[in-house]
Amino acid sequence: MSGIIAYCRPGFESDCAAELQEKTGLLGSYGYCQTQAQQGYVIYRCAAEEAEHLAKKLVLNELIFTRQFIAILAEVKDLPSQDRVSALQLALLDDTVQENFAGVKPAGSLRVETPDTNVGKELSKFCRKFTVPLRQGLRQAGWMTAKESDRRPTLHAFFISNSEVVLGFSYSFNQSPWLMGIPRLRMPGDAPSRSTLKLDEAFQVFVPAHEREERVSSGMNAVDLGAAPGGWTYQLVRRGMMVQAVDNGPMAETLMDTGQVKHIQEDGFKFRPKKKNVTWLVCDMVEKPARVGELMTDWLLEGDCKEAIFNLKLPMKRRYAAVAEYLQHIKDTLQEHGRGKFELQAKQLYHDREEITVHIRWL
Ligand SMILES: C[S@@+](CC[C@H](N)C(=O)[O-])C[C@H]1O[C@@H](n2cnc3c(N)ncnc32)[C@H](O)[C@@H]1O
Repeated sequence: MSGIIAYCRPGFESDCAAELQEKTGLLGSYGYCQTQAQQGYVIYRCAAEEAEHLAKKLVLNELIFTRQFIAILAEVKDLPSQDRVSALQLALLDDTVQENFAGVKPAGSLRVETPDTNVGKELSKFCRKFTVPLRQGLRQAGWMTAKESDRRPTLHAFFISNSEVVLGFSYSFNQSPWLMGIPRLRMPGDAPSRSTLKLDEAFQVFVPAHEREERVSSGMNAVDLGAAPGGWTYQLVRRGMMVQAVDNGPMAETLMDTGQVKHIQEDGFKFRPKKKNVTWLVCDMVEKPARVGELMTDWLLEGDCKEAIFNLKLPMKRRYAAVAEYLQHIKDTLQEHGRGKFELQAKQLYHDREEITVHIRWL
């Protein structure tokens, strides 16, 4: 039995599984999920040819609770502590691998990864060190190109423990660019709050690198609803924007000193810009997700912004079901009352906790 492994935030396994079950079903795959609370991943079991199909067709960018997923090539449950490379080479010689995944060979790069848990953290130093000899061994076995290539699939060695490892792959056109699907972002020393990293990550995840200069650029106007103390405003200012920061709470002085921020002490649900010259609306108000969704939809429909990034807080139990409902409502409203096409993306970012981040823009 093959399948896929989806990496997720520990504690969100059931949401990740519910989403996988639904979205693989829509692609005509009828496997089942195996998972345990807090393990930081979900296994979706299915036949090898289905796993290969999902690696291509299950679009990572459309999954909310999955940071990265890999199709399973081989599972090794009793990895010896000596000569691990040979054991992994041997696992890849298996007939099912040769029959079903010949097209993956040779892969263009390798990532040695762990779940995002304490066990994983303990293994991460070993994984870093093991990457070089494993890459060497995979090259010898014909499983990797002599030079790194981003046109070929990526091999993943996913260490669940020091003796249990899953070998898998992802296609370069359907993968996260980061190890474990986690961007390593530097916390700026002068940012007013840690949540600044959420918006930094959101820009990286939702706006492709080659479009960033045009879509997130200096001189644009932005509105930040629920801005205090200014972590998100900091990211907008850093990118050269002029920001209307709406919040009754105080904004960090350092931000006000830049001259790029106007602090507006008003209710974020009532405020509207005087001119239709706002490109970015961002919103981190702690409020009912349905209410935030409606507010964002109104801004977009009335042309008060071109693009919006906002958080939906998820204190409820069945989070995937709730999120699917909120997002469907937003899509239906935009479709019914909007005048054009739009793009909607949603992700539980690495820096998100009990929440997800949503991006919507008119195309
Ligand atoms: C999570 S904090 C925002 C943190 C901010 N994004 C940062 O990075 O520093 C939520 C903020 O929303 C503000 N807020 C909540 N309800 C609001 C409302 N109706 N109007 C304006 N601000 C609101 C709160 O005052 C609080 O400062």
